[in-house]
Amino acid sequence: MKQAEVMRRLILYSLLVSSAFAFQLPFKVPFFKSKTAIVSESAQGTPRIAIIGAGAGGSSAAFWISKAKERFGIHVEVDVYERAAYVGGRSITVYPYNDTSLSPVELGASIFVDANKNLMRASREFNLSLSKFEDDDSDTGIWDGEHFVLIMNSGSYVKSWWSTIKVLWRYGYSSPSKTKALVQNMINRFVGLYATESPRWDDLADLATKFDWMSMVNQSTAEYLESNGVSPRFSRELVEAATRVNYGQNIDEIHALEGACSMAASGASGVSTGNYHIFEHFLEKSGAKVHLNTNVKEIKHKADSSLWTLHTDAGSDTYTGVIIAAPFHQSGIKLPSDLSSLIPPQPYVHLHVTLLSTRNEHPNPEYFGLPANTIVPKTILTTYEGARAGGLEPEFNSLTYHGLTRETTNSTDDGVTTARQPEWVVKIFSKERVSDEWLKTVFGHVGWVFRKEWDAYPKLPPTNEFPPVKLDQGLYYVNAFEPFISTMETETISSRNVVDLLLHEEFGSGICGSLLSGTNSSEERGTNATPDDFVLGWDC
Ligand SMILES: Cc1cc2nc3c(=O)[nH]c(=O)nc-3n(C[C@H](O)[C@H](O)[C@H](O)COP(=O)(O)OP(=O)(O)OC[C@H]3O[C@@H](n4cnc5c(N)ncnc54)[C@H](O)[C@@H]3O)c2cc1C
Ligand SMILES: *[C@@H]1O[C@H](CO)[C@@H](O)[C@H](O)[C@H]1NC(C)=O
Ligand SMILES: *[C@@H]1O[C@H](CO)[C@@H](O)[C@H](O)[C@H]1NC(C)=O
Ligand SMILES: *[C@@H]1O[C@H](CO)[C@@H](O)[C@H](O)[C@H]1NC(C)=O
Ligand SMILES: *[C@@H]1O[C@H](CO)[C@@H](O)[C@H](O)[C@H]1NC(C)=O
Repeated sequence: MKQAEVMRRLILYSLLVSSAFAFQLPFKVPFFKSKTAIVSESAQGTPRIAIIGAGAGGSSAAFWISKAKERFGIHVEVDVYERAAYVGGRSITVYPYNDTSLSPVELGASIFVDANKNLMRASREFNLSLSKFEDDDSDTGIWDGEHFVLIMNSGSYVKSWWSTIKVLWRYGYSSPSKTKALVQNMINRFVGLYATESPRWDDLADLATKFDWMSMVNQSTAEYLESNGVSPRFSRELVEAATRVNYGQNIDEIHALEGACSMAASGASGVSTGNYHIFEHFLEKSGAKVHLNTNVKEIKHKADSSLWTLHTDAGSDTYTGVIIAAPFHQSGIKLPSDLSSLIPPQPYVHLHVTLLSTRNEHPNPEYFGLPANTIVPKTILTTYEGARAGGLEPEFNSLTYHGLTRETTNSTDDGVTTARQPEWVVKIFSKERVSDEWLKTVFGHVGWVFRKEWDAYPKLPPTNEFPPVKLDQGLYYVNAFEPFISTMETETISSRNVVDLLLHEEFGSGICGSLLSGTNSSEERGTNATPDDFVLGWDC
């Protein structure tokens, strides 16, 4: 053990014994030597952890650390650095017409599902009300660039794409039911991540092996489904509609684990006022110091110690631990080259999000080559199957109506009362920018328009290698999880793992005490959690 680490533990020990919680500690402080060491190192103050990024990953990391502080009196100060002016990262909302009396619209991540236990639990504990996407019962069409290959009239795609009559008619019973079983199987394992027995991992490949997911991440969704007896037509149309709307990728480009996640939409919900509220609450509860508008430029070893020096726009500071919670190659952070070379290049899908409002209750049928009186679906997903056969590629990945911005209202301007017609909010995801003229063609009337480009999610080709979770002693990488699964929820799972590893390494105890995961710690479980709603990290 390095000298500095020994001393850190000594400081910790001195802090712990003076803490009111010391007698409750479920773990043994490793060892101690002499008082003089304590005194000299104490001058450096409390151990500190820096978190870079205030999105799902970084905000939850701060929250998990605060759970350990609250439970075990681990004494550590946390700084969160965020280069943007807001908390939430890829979760952010905007208001139609920038009018805060209207409902906000998600510009980035919009849904999470029942199996996403951290976000569900957080919403409940933070009293955030959820909107269910399943309540939306508009028609869903799958567009191939030239034709609708399928239109489902009953229920939204989120709820019932396994079972609508039209699906069964077009694809038969066995492909939907086989796909459903494969997805359910994935979810059943996924919830193992919230059980006491959940492992911790340094390498996502280990996790993939433990969860029997290797054959999913090392095959494309297309290969995996076909080898499991799902018909190509079903996977290339219906499953691809899901991978394209969720990840902007076709089924022959995206691995089967993420493909299955795209199909796992049961209980799809979002926080009504915006998902970023969860992340704001994480930070608020955590007591961490949040530095907005502060770009981290470099992370270096502090000379002759195992500490890290962080250089930001605002200066520099020294930390025991550093958690990187942003996609590394987009962060612009300089690392020692022996460390940065550990993180393989990771392309992201560059996505154009276009939000607009329109008085047209449905898209124009002419654009879709349909007779003028046809009612075009309000949820349009796409397949690349037409393009694979030599046809035109769809000009968008998805086009979805999201309810009214306002009912018919009367507004009074200069004493003249005019009836305002209702307007619907529409969200379009596309690879390229959609022009104003294009919007006019598809919607006729266009009111408000808001455009945003994102590096939205990793390109997710089949693989069996992932970026390291631990880059060095005290230096961890939350977004190593993204090429495995990229969602808000999995970033909170990844941060739980990272915080647990870091706290064990530095303080000998994790979020739930000193026990290693993979052992049974039922005696440490919260008494008010039944096995069903037990969530690791929340209930221990
Ligand atoms: C359009 C869109 C739709 C999506 N839909 C969904 C969905 O429905 N459901 C879902 O679960 N997921 C969805 N996702 C994916 C989801 O947004 C991400 O998986 C998740 O939000 C990633 O969280 P994160 O905290 O890891 O990263 P981010 O949210 O990207 O946060 C990283 C933060 O780090 C900051 N940062 C970067 N570099 C530095 C630096 N050098 N110094 C300081 N700060 C820095 C960034 O400003 C950013 O705020 C969607 C994404 C997009 C773009
Ligand atoms: C929206 O309104 C806020 C508050 O009035 C203002 O600060 C902001 O600049 C506006 N944004 C746009 C895009 O107009
Ligand atoms: C949520 O609401 C409950 C009951 O109304 C209240 O006891 C609790 O303090 C609230 N929690 C938060 C975080 O506001
Ligand atoms: C994929 O993973 C499975 C299960 O570990 C393994 O049997 C198979 O050989 C792997 N295939 C490739 C192409 O790596
Ligand atoms: C932990 O305990 C539960 C029930 O209490 C049991 O089902 C599970 O198999 C145990 N896990 C291990 C790893 O021993």
